[in-house]
Amino acid sequence: MSSFGYIFSRLLKKARGSAIAGSVIHRTSKIESGSTIVRSNFDRHSFCGYDCTFIDCDVGAFCSIAGGVVAGGARHPMEYVSTSPVFLAHRDSVTTKFSRHPYRWTTRTTIGHDVWIGERCLIKAGVTIGHGAVVGMGSVVTKDVPPYAIVAGNPARLIRMRFQPHVIEALLKMEWWNLHDEELRRLAPHFPDPERMLRQEGLL
Ligand SMILES: CC(C)(COP(=O)(O)OP(=O)(O)OC[C@H]1O[C@@H](n2cnc3c(N)ncnc32)[C@H](O)[C@@H]1OP(=O)(O)O)[C@@H](O)C(=O)NCCC(=O)NCCS
Repeated sequence: MSSFGYIFSRLLKKARGSAIAGSVIHRTSKIESGSTIVRSNFDRHSFCGYDCTFIDCDVGAFCSIAGGVVAGGARHPMEYVSTSPVFLAHRDSVTTKFSRHPYRWTTRTTIGHDVWIGERCLIKAGVTIGHGAVVGMGSVVTKDVPPYAIVAGNPARLIRMRFQPHVIEALLKMEWWNLHDEELRRLAPHFPDPERMLRQEGLL
């Protein structure tokens, strides 16, 4: 394809926009087009790729979310006679209501700070993904993920930890994601070497 064709296609893709409702997206964060964000929050310096769906989620700062990720969403009443929303009280896309039973059909999903979620992952509603965790592409996350764990697969299982326990402990204590941008600029040159950065800051 010519570079003109490429740029034109990219522009068309971006022109779709994103559907955001009842959500707070920090001004330094970015939601790519085709994504639907409902009742969810994105903290600073995070990005959400194309064609994602986040419903009732709290996403931390410095998160990298690839395209096609789905997190949160409704739970239907499996314990009722029917799972259909035509028997439930809340507003939805069905046209008929036979009854209006009150039902708490969403629960919040928490994604910590500095989490990387690979392409096309599914994150079950109610799950907590710890700070610094990585979720491999195409994973189905059904359980909580500990901080700094790398998980992958369906269901997602631990591949390994990103760092040794003493480094993880120090990073969690440091909470670098809460530092001001200026302070982060000072520290950023040392980010390729976590142990050195932590030693320099007196945390190891
Ligand atoms: C999870 C990930 C980060 C691990 O990368 P890595 O450290 O290079 O891992 P390796 O390739 O050494 O794999 C380690 C093991 O995990 C398995 N594995 C890796 N990624 C996996 C995945 N997504 N699903 C299932 N298993 C996976 C490998 O098969 C391997 O298993 P083995 O030990 O039985 O052989 C990487 O595989 C991944 O999924 N990256 C996301 C890429 C992406 O979506 N990018 C989008 C742009 S932001």
